[in-house]
Amino acid sequence: MANKNLNAAKNAKKDEFYTQLVDIENELKHYREHFRGKTVLCNCDDPRVSNFFHYFSYNFEQLGLKKLITTCYKNQERDLFSQNDCERAIWLEYMGDRNGNRVPDPEEIGIHHFNGDGDFRSAECIELLKQADIVVTNPPFSLFREYVAQLIKYEKKFVIVGHQNAIHYKEIFPLIKENKLWLGYGFKGGAGHFFSKYEDTATAGDHREGMIRVSGVNWFTNLEIQKRHDYLILFKTYNPNDYPFYDNYNGINVNKTNEIPMDYTNIMGVPITFLDKYNPEQFEILGTSTMDMPKGAPYVNGKRIYERILIRRRQPAAQPKQYTENESNLPLAAEE
Ligand SMILES: C[S@@+](CC[C@H](N)C(=O)[O-])C[C@H]1O[C@@H](n2cnc3c(N)ncnc32)[C@H](O)[C@@H]1O
Repeated sequence: MANKNLNAAKNAKKDEFYTQLVDIENELKHYREHFRGKTVLCNCDDPRVSNFFHYFSYNFEQLGLKKLITTCYKNQERDLFSQNDCERAIWLEYMGDRNGNRVPDPEEIGIHHFNGDGDFRSAECIELLKQADIVVTNPPFSLFREYVAQLIKYEKKFVIVGHQNAIHYKEIFPLIKENKLWLGYGFKGGAGHFFSKYEDTATAGDHREGMIRVSGVNWFTNLEIQKRHDYLILFKTYNPNDYPFYDNYNGINVNKTNEIPMDYTNIMGVPITFLDKYNPEQFEILGTSTMDMPKGAPYVNGKRIYERILIRRRQPAAQPKQYTENESNLPLAAEE
């Protein structure tokens, strides 16, 4: 039992894994217009291993950035992958290419020392946060709640990596419901490969040397993206057999996001994956089965089913077409 608890604690603190450049590029290409004239902060990023620093320093001019700041946390746990072994934590400041070679040279990067360990919650890191317009990083998952709370408190724009489990956190879901945070474009297949020394549990076909496969990772943001304005095309119509009411809640159950009935305007429970397709002009989020249903879970015909997000259509239901005098109500007769 003691061993099990120890393992659980270790897993919960597995914060040392590093994002691939290609994953950063694939996500951030959808946000380019937001960066012009802005100060970007990557505040959990050892610049010696961080591809976030790489991405923003090499794309500084193209994005039209004003300033790039990255902070490096001096990890206290020496057995981890982290290379944060310098005496004091540091932070870097980059203002763009000065000598015209289009490459961030060491002499163009200002290196500053922190007095403390570079914890994103420390006063000196918060001072840097205040300077920033947009925060972009993959923060420690074990501190995700605190990390997001701080960004919200200081009213920062952000694009950060997190685990989809965070959607269920009581500190995070209300932000999603109030449209203060939403999902980005995400990782291919909902899983990412990260540089790490942790033991990889990926199957042989999915194994990549020196990397760990983490399923259920996603990007969380509060920056406008096109995806959030794309309407989900609905093609199913409501019928009580396919969409039964919950035993314990006044709403119908929908098993697949693309099967949301186009003509139903009351409360529906949909899978969590709905959030990936969520357009706030089309739907309203009302709650989750865990937080809002008696017994904390959805039941259909006595059977407990997977967790659901409770939603309602914003758009008026499709109305039957009104025909004018000149229009026929009947389908056109086939030509003889
Ligand atoms: C998931 S890793 C990602 C690293 C990097 N952002 C990347 O994606 O390549 C999270 C990083 O946050 C650092 N970290 C952990 N606790 C921190 C804290 N309290 N303040 C700042 N950084 C912290 C860890 O050392 C680790 O390098």
